[in-house]
Amino acid sequence: MPRLPIFLAGTSLTASECTLGNRHLKYGVTSRDYETFGKALMATLEAELGLRLTRETRDAWVAVYNLISSLMQEQIESAPCLGYLP
Ligand code: HEM
Repeated sequence: MPRLPIFLAGTSLTASECTLGNRHLKYGVTSRDYETFGKALMATLEAELGLRLTRETRDAWVAVYNLISSLMQEQIESAPCLGYLP
């Protein structure tokens, strides 16, 4: 079974100097990009795992991606990083 947010390894959603969401704002990432990225992630899992991607595992990936990407986008509103915005 795929490990859940493996792409978060070695980082934090709330690093002390600036949140992950705000760093992505600086990288130029928009809400549309989060949507596209989520679709690409799921298409990749489906292509790589085929029938091994069960409904339960698929739903878990969708849930965790939606949760993390929503938190990142909420951080932009709730915790602006002074001196770090573009
Ligand atoms: C759940 C969604 C995402 C997670 C967890 C995530 C995670 C990360 C992490 C941990 C980094 C390393 C640098 C840092 O911590 O600031 C990073 C960098 C980056 N991410 Fe994301 N990311 C996500 C979505 C996206 C999306 C949707 C895009 C654009 C399509 C994107 C573009 C970038 C770019 C441009 C960098 C900088 C790369 C570099 O400096 O070499 N990310 N991301």
